Amino acid sequence: MKKICIILGTRPEIIKLCELIKICKKEENLVLIHSNQHYSENMDKVFFNELNLPHPNYNLNAGSGKHGKQTGLMLEKIEFILELEKPDIVIVQGDTNTVLAGALAASKMNIKVGHVEAGLRSYDRKMPEETNRIIVDHISDLLFCPTEKQKLILKTEGINENKINVVGNTIVDTIIKCETSNDILKNNNLETKAFILLTMHRQENVGKKEKLKEVMNKIETLKELNMKVIFPIHPRTKKMCLQFEINIPGFIKLIPPVNYSEMVTLEKNSFCIITDSGGIQEEACILKIPCITIRNTTERPETIEVGANKLATNNLIDDVKEMTNKKRNWVNPFGKGDSSEKILRIIQNETH
Ligand code: UD1
Ligand code: UDP
Repeated sequence: MKKICIILGTRPEIIKLCELIKICKKEENLVLIHSNQHYSENMDKVFFNELNLPHPNYNLNAGSGKHGKQTGLMLEKIEFILELEKPDIVIVQGDTNTVLAGALAASKMNIKVGHVEAGLRSYDRKMPEETNRIIVDHISDLLFCPTEKQKLILKTEGINENKINVVGNTIVDTIIKCETSNDILKNNNLETKAFILLTMHRQENVGKKEKLKEVMNKIETLKELNMKVIFPIHPRTKKMCLQFEINIPGFIKLIPPVNYSEMVTLEKNSFCIITDSGGIQEEACILKIPCITIRNTTERPETIEVGANKLATNNLIDDVKEMTNKKRNWVNPFGKGDSSEKILRIIQNETH
């Protein structure tokens, strides 16, 4: 039996690692570390409860802070735990500061690192996530890529092909098991295909006043469509709007972050999705909902290539019209929902 340590800390990691955690717990000796980078009830516990996840063995209480402080605090605590637990492998998923801290701590202690969702690149080094991805990929021993595209990227960067596995994206494993309920629609007076779902939280969009104002102005143009817009607002975005005294246009219905089944219900029933989220670009593509990404780049180019997604231009109304007039006959590039199984089998067969 291998001792597998899974380290997570934010909403998307809890969601995307959910199936892997469950099968590891069943078959292997699992140690679960939660950095608590996300800690608000609706960004954290709500997902552990609804996805029936086990309680973490360790909570780091890292919380919020500048990049250095947040990552440093996690690094110190993870090192201490890894010294105690001596796992065979540490698994991290994605590109957050929790992922960077977990992989760095393990690598320096000569513990194997497995990176789930490896090889994604936006080629925009201003994004903190891009720095995290590059570092973690280059210190990982097992790289689990969603599609062939990332394998090629990693090989081009000089990473040994033997370490790279194409396994699909674990978000498919979670989403296909998700049971939806229409309460969230009823409670917000929303009718199927008659509303736009908006999410936004990335540092490049909300971190600076001018940029946030520019993005909000763009979003304000949606009023012309005479369609409801629902915006489950990320705590970072809420905080920055208050700090910069930027008003969210009144026709947009603001709600607190929702749980996963509510989110998938909103996604499935929306006319289209406008987002800067990584995971939501993938989910829109999987659920066959047109997506417009309010960013200049995406590390999920497959979603654009299959026709499910588009980077926003200066004319958001035209973007919405273009995407919603298209046929939704694209093929989901992220796999069949067996990525977690594949990852565990690869870890189990890894001998050196
Ligand atoms: C982090 C990730 C980002 C990911 C996102 C998922 C990094 C560098 N960024 O961004 O890649 O897309 O998670 O949602 O790791 N806050 C709360 N409650 C919480 C968490 C955050 O109120 O539970 C507020 C705090 O004011 C905090 C701010 O949100 O300062 C930002 O949180 P942080 O974890 O630093 O970054 P995210 O924007 O959540
Ligand atoms: N999500 C959710 N409730 C919300 C907003 C998002 O359950 O109110 C889910 C969403 O369905 C996806 C994940 O959170 O699975 C995406 O997380 P987020 O956008 O915070 O981060 P990113 O994917 O950009 O790193």
